[in-house]
Amino acid sequence: MQVTKNIPKITTHVLQEMKLKGEKIAMLTGYDYSVARLLDEAGIDVILVGDSASNVMAGHKTTLPITIDQMIYHASSVMRAVKRALVVVDLPFGSYQGNSKEALHTAIRIMKESGCNAIKLEGGAEVKESIDRILSAGIPVLGHLGLTPQSINKFGTYVVRATEEREAEKLRRDAKILEEAGCFGIVLEKIPAALAAEVTDSVKIPTIGIGAGSHVDGQVLVLHDMLGINQEFSPRFLRRYHNLHDEMIKAFLAYIHDVKSGEFPNEREQY
Ligand code: KIV
Repeated sequence: MQVTKNIPKITTHVLQEMKLKGEKIAMLTGYDYSVARLLDEAGIDVILVGDSASNVMAGHKTTLPITIDQMIYHASSVMRAVKRALVVVDLPFGSYQGNSKEALHTAIRIMKESGCNAIKLEGGAEVKESIDRILSAGIPVLGHLGLTPQSINKFGTYVVRATEEREAEKLRRDAKILEEAGCFGIVLEKIPAALAAEVTDSVKIPTIGIGAGSHVDGQVLVLHDMLGINQEFSPRFLRRYHNLHDEMIKAFLAYIHDVKSGEFPNEREQY
């Protein structure tokens, strides 16, 4: 039985029910009004206003430079479009690590100013105090373990995480910590499929994988990657559903040709 059929608004409780019934959760990133409208119309369950906006929207090499104000700008654009999907917003780097009061302040600002439904932050035990404080204010929290891009300067590379037993054991413990704290779900990024499956079976909350194999409760991809806009990024886990790079270049070339040759506008396209 499909849980989400005819549901007017996806909530964190609906996601929990989906896990119980074995219905997979479909999540994609979204950063602007026009695309968010299409995602919602298509019936996506969750839109993540990811700090990957720093890469795909602003052209930065990492997710670190994006600010709280910029996240709020993207999130409120998405919120103006969405009727049904659950909208989750990333807390940006530097806005929650090491200071739980600042974490709460950031989460409240993002919720108040964008109107989003939940926030996401990266890490396990080390951010538990921030998670507790945010949850105590009634703000739903999505955890994020495995490859955590905000820690790129600590790890130095974007390779698969938790392949060594020590790191895998920490991830298992962190997943339990997030569940017990009251997170409504956990994103598992770029970890071995067997470990993701084990974590998925060991927690009652939904897991959402990206490069974490198929035995998770849902999947997430970065919009620009799955649409094939960004041709340089092609990790093994990425399935491209379109080649928008080539389609857009084709349209731009045709437009440039028509303008230069005087074929655009024609008589019907003028007043
Ligand atoms: O910012 C983002 O897009 C993310 C996903 C990769 C999960 O955190």
